[in-house]
Amino acid sequence: MVYDNIVLIGFMGCGKTSVGKILARQINKKFMDVDKIIEVEQKSSVLDIFQNKGEEYFRSLEQKCMDELMQNTGQVISTGGGLPIYSSISEKSLIVYVETEFDVILNRLSVKERDKRPLFYDEARAKALFNERIHTYKEVSNFSIDATQSIQTYIHVLVDYILDQRVL
Ligand code: S3P
Repeated sequence: MVYDNIVLIGFMGCGKTSVGKILARQINKKFMDVDKIIEVEQKSSVLDIFQNKGEEYFRSLEQKCMDELMQNTGQVISTGGGLPIYSSISEKSLIVYVETEFDVILNRLSVKERDKRPLFYDEARAKALFNERIHTYKEVSNFSIDATQSIQTYIHVLVDYILDQRVL
């Protein structure tokens, strides 16, 4: 076992949660979603937390959640798009960047999905955020997958890598 956990990172709407669920099922590991855990613990949606308590508070919840998850091993963890920007991720994790282009994300995210995301209200600001963040995503990840196509076309690349390298 080379890493404790697999952590999926990438911009909003790149497909981290969908990839994470399929990956976890295929390699028979537990799937954890940081945003979901926070929402259950806080009994509040991410949007409400942003609106009522502010982004800084949300970022502190993300770090706390990550620190708790890192106490365990053998998990596939999906993160919110800002987590690697504001929180540290244990070096014992295989950090996988789910890489897409901004236009692909725009086409994929329905209006309903955009409305759930406080940092996606304004398309121009979301695009600027995307351009700011991609460097960090590349820098902190140890592996990236080209997620411009549908999950079915690339999931096997990731699964094969993980099984071949016996990363978990
Ligand atoms: C955020 C991404 C969201 C969520 C929050 C902030 C961000 O998660 O954590 O709205 O800063 O990029 P997704 O990446 O799952 O949309």
